[in-house]
Amino acid sequence: MTAPDDSGALLPALSPDHHALVKLVRDFARREIAPIAAAYDESGEFPLNTIRQMGAMGLMGIEIPEDYGGAGMDTLAYALTMIEVAKVDASHSTILSVNNSLFGYAVLHFGTEAQKHDFLAPVARGEKIGAYSLTEPMSGSDAGTMESRAVLNEAGTHYIINGRKSWVTSGPVADSVVLFTMTEPEKKHKGVSAFLIDAYQPGFIRGKKEPKLGIRASATSELVFENYACPVGNMLGKPGEGFKIAMSVLDAGRIGIAAQALGIAEAAYEASLTYARERQAFGGSIGGFQMIQQKIADMKTRIEASRLLIYSACAAKERAKKTGARFTTEASMAKLFASETAMFVTDEAVQIHGGMGYSKEMPVERWYRDARITRIYEGTSEIQRMVIARNELGLR
Ligand code: CAA
Repeated sequence: MTAPDDSGALLPALSPDHHALVKLVRDFARREIAPIAAAYDESGEFPLNTIRQMGAMGLMGIEIPEDYGGAGMDTLAYALTMIEVAKVDASHSTILSVNNSLFGYAVLHFGTEAQKHDFLAPVARGEKIGAYSLTEPMSGSDAGTMESRAVLNEAGTHYIINGRKSWVTSGPVADSVVLFTMTEPEKKHKGVSAFLIDAYQPGFIRGKKEPKLGIRASATSELVFENYACPVGNMLGKPGEGFKIAMSVLDAGRIGIAAQALGIAEAAYEASLTYARERQAFGGSIGGFQMIQQKIADMKTRIEASRLLIYSACAAKERAKKTGARFTTEASMAKLFASETAMFVTDEAVQIHGGMGYSKEMPVERWYRDARITRIYEGTSEIQRMVIARNELGLR
């Protein structure tokens, strides 16, 4: 597929392949996911069947080269897929995003050939579920401080890992995990290393599943490591490179969360348009009232501004493939603005729907709950502002 910025344009244009992908994903999501989304949200069950189907369609490794089981497409293709899936169900898009970017991007960019073959390909094909484990009970936004440890054994063959990780998306079902833990604690963030974890080895324990406000069908849990013996060959990157790997993977991940937020916002906006046209009050449709029109105008404007930031971040990430430059600021701006937009738009959507927006009989209530996490995970809005400002001020 052509890189979106080959023309030198700031924003990528959608190619025929992108349009075909959008139609494929939109049709699938409406046919297979829409009918089950509310029930899975209610039960909190992991939607393995539809995730497997999405894997078979190539959606679990959109940017992963075909040699490693992926679809070999570009960043924009990934963002467009996230938008279409999130528009129907945010939980499915969360699972999709972890496989594609947090897990897939990490192994593709920092893995050895053997690691790509053994760990990446099954996840990119959708046969296995991947996870990314950075956060700990006492280490969230301040990701460089960790209490978990990996100690090389005397034979020099294995790292023995102990500790507790938290808020791991897909933790309850993951087959493989990109884990960040301390190998040299005295070096602080320079002592963090990354490992590829096989979830079926002794010492890997799935902890408490989180009871969540939203994205309830995307399972989240603690992971506990008790003398887990990780072969030295499963270290991702070099010793001490873990923090930089974690940060650059989050740069890619944040574009996906921005796209997810846009998808949720679009869904809530389109439902609001329909409702504003149909709902009658005071002798006319409520869309005729200026206070509703102001909401519609602000929702639409923020949605389109989010789209431009996301497309710009996609273009920056494509450029980075050639130049090696970072796209940190573009990714953080897209994530910050789109997630705040998702919250604004879903809140206004509930308001436009009135009592019906507060009822589980309409999906607006679910979108409102689902939108909330986009301001928190993969870096809070406060962290995105900090990242953007530090880069602008040259404080690194
Ligand atoms: N790419 C590459 N390297 C980077 C980087 C990036 N985007 N950002 C920072 N670095 C490097 C710096 O250059 C620096 O390198 P040197 O030591 O060689 O100078 C090093 O990392 C440390 O950088 P900082 O001094 O800026 O680090 P900090 O401790 O001040 O923290 C931070 C920076 C931005 C606050 C970072 O800790 C952060 O992003 N925190 C949020 C973490 C987060 O998003 N967590 C979510 C986890 S995933 C999740 O939500 C769960 C899930 O399953 C979805």
